[in-house]
Order: sequence, then C-alpha cells, then structure tokens
Amino acid sequence: MRVRSVVAATVAAAVAVVGLPTTASAAIGPLPGGGVRYYLNDAFSGIANHAFVYGDPHDVVFFGDWDGQGGDTPMVRRGQRFHIRNSNSTGYADASFGYGDAGDTVLAGDWDGDGVDTLAVRRGNVFYLKNALTTGYADDVIAYGNPGDVVLVGDWDGDGVDTLTVRRGNQYFVKNSISSGVADTVFSYGDAGDKVLVGDWDGTDGVSLAIRRGNQYFFRNTLSSGIADRVLSYGEASDLAFSGDWDGDGTDTLGVRRWVEEGRAVDRRTGSELDQPFIVGGLPVVSKDHRISSRYASPWAGQPWGLNPDAYAAFRRMAADSRAAGLPLAIRSAYRTYAEQKTIYERAVAAYGIQYASLYYAPAGASEHQTGLALDVWDGVNRGTAFSRLPQARWVAQHAHEYGFIVRYPDGKTHITGYAWESWHLRWVGPEAAANFGPNSRLTLEEYLALV
Ligand code: DAL
Ligand code: ZN
Repeated sequence: MRVRSVVAATVAAAVAVVGLPTTASAAIGPLPGGGVRYYLNDAFSGIANHAFVYGDPHDVVFFGDWDGQGGDTPMVRRGQRFHIRNSNSTGYADASFGYGDAGDTVLAGDWDGDGVDTLAVRRGNVFYLKNALTTGYADDVIAYGNPGDVVLVGDWDGDGVDTLTVRRGNQYFVKNSISSGVADTVFSYGDAGDKVLVGDWDGTDGVSLAIRRGNQYFFRNTLSSGIADRVLSYGEASDLAFSGDWDGDGTDTLGVRRWVEEGRAVDRRTGSELDQPFIVGGLPVVSKDHRISSRYASPWAGQPWGLNPDAYAAFRRMAADSRAAGLPLAIRSAYRTYAEQKTIYERAVAAYGIQYASLYYAPAGASEHQTGLALDVWDGVNRGTAFSRLPQARWVAQHAHEYGFIVRYPDGKTHITGYAWESWHLRWVGPEAAANFGPNSRLTLEEYLALV
C-alpha cells in the first residue's frame, strides 16, 4: 500500500454552463418482448442499433473490453461473482470469476494498459486493482480521495491506462497515473446533482464527461469547464445509462438498460397454423426459425410484383427520389412462391454448396419473399454483392427507413438473422416501425421485436 494522500482542491470552480438547444427526441422502442434489455447505439444518432437481453434486473452491470478485441460488452455482478459476456448479444456468460467481497464497491478499467479491462474493488478511499479477470489478490493498491467521494474511471490523458477521478459536487479531480497523490487536473462541469458518464466522445485520445438530465445527454470533449460540445436525447429518463465503444471504432457512445415487462413472443404455431406467418407486434416474421408452409401465398399475389400495395407505392417514391439523386434503383425480385423459392434455393446449393448458399438463399418456407413484404433492389445491372459496392447501396441504407423499409440482413448480424449482409434485400415494416431503425441501421427485426 502506498502513502495515502488527500486530493488537493486548489482550483476555484469555473462557472460551468451546460446547455444547448435540445435535439430531436430519441426513439428506441416500443419493443414487445420482456427481460433486461440493452439498447446500444454505435453513433450519436439517438437510435439503437443493437438490442439484446442479458442478466436480471438486480444485476450491477459494467461495460468493458474483457477480451481485448476492441468493443465494450457487459459484465454483471451478483454478490462477489462476475459474469462476463464477450458480445453484445443475447446469451449466456462466456466466463465467470469471483473478486472481493459482496459488500465492496467495484470499478472497471484497464489499469495496466494491455487493452483488457479488469476490476478494482474499493474500500473507503483505498482501491485494490487487479490486472486479470480472475480470482486472486490485487496487483496494485492505491489510496485516492476520501471515503465519501464519488469516483470515476477513464483514460483521461489518452495514454492507454485508465486512472481515477474523484468527484465532489460538480468538481472533478483527475489523476493521470495509478498512484496516490494530488490531482493532475481539476475542473468543474454541470451541477452537483447531475448524473455523469465518462467516455471518448470525439474519438481523440482521452476521455471526458457527459452529464445526463432525464433522457438528455450533454457531452463535453475536454476536461475543462464550459458548455457542452454536443447534446443528444436517447432512450427514456427511467433507463439506466452507460457509455462504451460498442463497435470498437475508438469512440464511446450511449447505451441504456431497460426492464421490459412483457414476455418474449413464442412461436407456438403447429399444423395448419403454419399456413400463416408468425406475427409479433403486428409484423409478420418469416425466417429460418419462423417458417411458413407451402400453402401460404402473398395476399397480394395479383398486384404489381406480388407486393403489398403500400410497400409498392413506397418503393415507387423511394425509386423516384433515388433517381433524382442520380442513383437509379429498380426491383429485381419481390414476391416468390414457395415453389419458386425451392427452385432458387436448390439451384444455389448445387452451385455454391450448402454452407455458402445458406448465407444468401432462404430455404422454401423461410423466405420473406413468400410474404409479398420483401423486395430485392438493383441498378438494373449489378445485383447481390455487386450492388453492395454501389453508391445506391449506401443511399438505400441511409434512406430506406424514410419510406417504411429496413435493410433486413445488416452487416455483422449473421448470428441473429442467419444470413450474410444483404444490402439489397428490403423488408416493408411501415414508416412507423422503420423510424425506430433510422438511417444506416444495423438493428435487426429480431432485435427490434425482442426475439433474441
Ligand atoms: N435472400 C433472402 C435470404 C431470401 O432468399 O429470402
Ligand atoms: Zn431478398
């Protein structure tokens, strides 16, 4: 144990003003389906692009990079046991271990700069830092601040090591090394009653603060007093809020946890019930997990492209707008019968092998094309993965939601959808639901409907 010292509070509080005009309100719901749900946003759009279930409502949760892969994921605490999840997806813990006592306060950070976040327990103003996610003795013990202080963790100076900051009222006493001693930086921000988050909001080295008021967040990019550099609404005031780098791009953004009461929708269809699609929150779900029989045909089979007329009209508007932007867009395939899908699938399996074919072709009964609610777009020349390289694919990703469509199989969500990224496959969900997906969304229908 090193020498205890008292944080020197020598810098007078500058006037901290937090406030900018409010932004548009955020939409991350409504979602049918119950449990402890996390809604994470990779950017500052205010719209979630990952949603999953993990743990129970009593768990204390920490977000960190537990496997050194870049990207923060949850760890929950139950008593003195910690349960790590290495992906932001519904599932069981990937690892568990014990550290400290059930009564300890726990902090998470990368104390040795190895890229992996680990834990520290706090007893009074003494911190017992451990450099591995294992049971055992502390690697380092330091004292900082007073027992009653609120303590924040972050890489304040961008040197790759997380250190401590003590908060007293709206004053922050930043220490840049894992050692006892006086603060390196002192500044004030917000009000004493504000909730505060730590993160690297601008992707430069070093973290700063955001204060939270209700569902509004006031981000500051420097460790100095002043007005917020960015203001965003996200989620609801009753949500538990976190910051973290969910996609490993070096920028921290927001996530919230919310207890959702309703139970998860369960597909109990059997026999002739399979002649109709599984419907959740008013939206038909057809996938490898929720199939329809050969007796189901699009109710709009006689309409243009066999599509739902609202979907078709919306596509026409979308195509007119993309053409006006110099990016012609056309339907390549829309409604397909069970029999047609069967032929396409079997041909693909014969040509590419089942493993590859299964990433791009649904087996008969598992294709949204059978519903008349999905369509594949192209520029008239480039289809499939070739389309993904066109500016049209970027335009579609950005604008589809404005017309009531979602890119149904986003990049990086194969573990949820069962399919590779299909920039061209659009699913009609209507403008109201699509608004919850937003531009460049990577949220899946399964996440949105709480089916994962
Ligand atoms: N391409 C999608 C997965 C389908 O065949 O329905
Ligand atoms: Zn398709």
